[in-house]
Amino acid sequence: MKTVEDLKRLREQLQVQTRLRHEGGIRVIIGMGTCGIAAGAREVMSAILDEIAKRRLEDVTVSQTGCIGMCEKEVLVDVVRPGEPRITYGRVTPADVSRIIAEHVVNGRIIEEMVVGKIAE
Ligand code: FES
Repeated sequence: MKTVEDLKRLREQLQVQTRLRHEGGIRVIIGMGTCGIAAGAREVMSAILDEIAKRRLEDVTVSQTGCIGMCEKEVLVDVVRPGEPRITYGRVTPADVSRIIAEHVVNGRIIEEMVVGKIAE
């Protein structure tokens, strides 16, 4: 038997999924160059995949990119929401992942203090 809380959560989840599907896909890109991997990019990638699975987010594509010349700021994670600038977060650790997913990927709120780059798409 589900509690009212459970049902509320389920409904919210479905609303988020519908919204994401409607917007046509969000991209999360992880820097997996040599220094990214040395800085823990694999762990960050797996935390991102876990978080997306846990929240059952659809239409979020996770991919990797190579070196972009910002060694000292690795691990780098980019979030691209359709029609919005590409935001690069720096020095991301697995502990930051749930916040990035909850704030930016799901709710569209950029976490300014972690941003190291912005590119208009
Ligand atoms: S290997 Fe670190 S920025 Fe390229």
